[in-house]
Amino acid sequence: MAKHSQATWGGRFEAGPAALMQRFSESASFDRRLAPYDIAGSKAHCAMLAHVGLITAKECRDIQAGLDAILSEITIGTFAWDERLEDVHMNVEHALTSRVPAAAKLHTARSRNDQVATDMRLFFKDACAVLDSRIKAAQVALLATASANKDVLMPGYTHLQRAQPVSAGHHLLAWMEMLQRDRQRMDEVSAKANECPLGSGAIAGTTLPIDREYTARLLGFVDARGRPRVTQNSMDAVADRDVFIEFASACALFGVHLSRIAEDLVIWSSAEFGFVALPDAFCTGSSLMPQKKNPDSCELLRGKSARLQGNLHTLLALVKGLPMTYNRDLQEDKPPVFDSFDQSMVCADVLAATLGGLTFNAERCAAAAEDPALLATDLADYLVARGVAFRKAHHAVGAVVALAEKRKCALTELATADVQRIDPGFGPDWSSVFDLGRALRMRKGTGMPAPAQVSRQIARWRKVLA
Ligand code: ARG
Repeated sequence: MAKHSQATWGGRFEAGPAALMQRFSESASFDRRLAPYDIAGSKAHCAMLAHVGLITAKECRDIQAGLDAILSEITIGTFAWDERLEDVHMNVEHALTSRVPAAAKLHTARSRNDQVATDMRLFFKDACAVLDSRIKAAQVALLATASANKDVLMPGYTHLQRAQPVSAGHHLLAWMEMLQRDRQRMDEVSAKANECPLGSGAIAGTTLPIDREYTARLLGFVDARGRPRVTQNSMDAVADRDVFIEFASACALFGVHLSRIAEDLVIWSSAEFGFVALPDAFCTGSSLMPQKKNPDSCELLRGKSARLQGNLHTLLALVKGLPMTYNRDLQEDKPPVFDSFDQSMVCADVLAATLGGLTFNAERCAAAAEDPALLATDLADYLVARGVAFRKAHHAVGAVVALAEKRKCALTELATADVQRIDPGFGPDWSSVFDLGRALRMRKGTGMPAPAQVSRQIARWRKVLA
């Protein structure tokens, strides 16, 4: 076993790790994607060491140039990764030391514990910004579809039973709100990530005279007024994985939203509903049944949401019961985070594309919305407007519905005398309630489905997404 391969911590060891242990414990295969953050962190740390006089300006320049060269090699794919060097940090440091003698000073006042915590916080800030923009792109597609179908009448459902009339525009704008909250959560997670752990060292900081604020400022860990933000407890800084969990949680909740949207689309695209046609390019056929067009993109969005929840649970279970502070278990924190990020990104793209190709069958939707029973509540409201107490009105309309059921006719086919026998509050104009257009127009308050209100919301979203 080559002892020199563990130059960073091999001093007290007589032999290097077993090959099995090397394979088992390496993380370079997955944490190499942190290289840009790791190198940014090292460059800032190095600048700080020069700033406080722990290295010379020349040493700093040499180290930074070496790091830049390594980053370009990594970017173009010529860097020689060596999994025996455990992780991204040691791969970069090893390559640097072999080229720049001063690199042996880079790890002054630093540990991989505060280094990996810093890398990940930089990663989260980027990942949240990327997800924000991908979800925004899905919202743009959604808004176009909502606007194109804003007046398509359809039933709204509770308990998956027809409840009250809405428009496709109103329904789609409900999804818009969900996605907006997902974007806000990305923003919040990014703000949580915005503290620099560097200087916490392995657990208890350093005896050397470093300037943590200087490093934080260089890495962009600053508040809105440009003041540096650094972690306030060295033990917490290397043990804390809250942001990992919050990020995975934001992704998991985004996944839950995707899954609910997908489920609506699966139901709507079934022959029984026939409300929408999904784009061919995001559906598949059956190898056996020639007539099939399956809503696979929606089903996979639903399925991916389980995976996003799994990643959150992995992280919660990983951290639970760990004694303070860093424990090697924590190396397992990265695969679920990266997976949540990668899957959330592609899910946002697939949602955008599926929504972009969605077409509504306005006739099918309208036929379902014509069911007069959807306006039973409106009939109760009619009685209320004529002075009947709501509970009494609700009861009376219930009796009207029961009567229509008994006679096997539609509510609208009952005679005025029939309904007046149930409640004298019904006037000769009682059936004017069953005008769907009117019913929708009357729901004109903020957040309601009146066409004018939906148009106002669409205009608001245009501004939000501009
Ligand atoms: N690869 C390690 C991880 O991701 C880096 C930190 C290692 N620290 C240590 N004390 N072994 O957790």
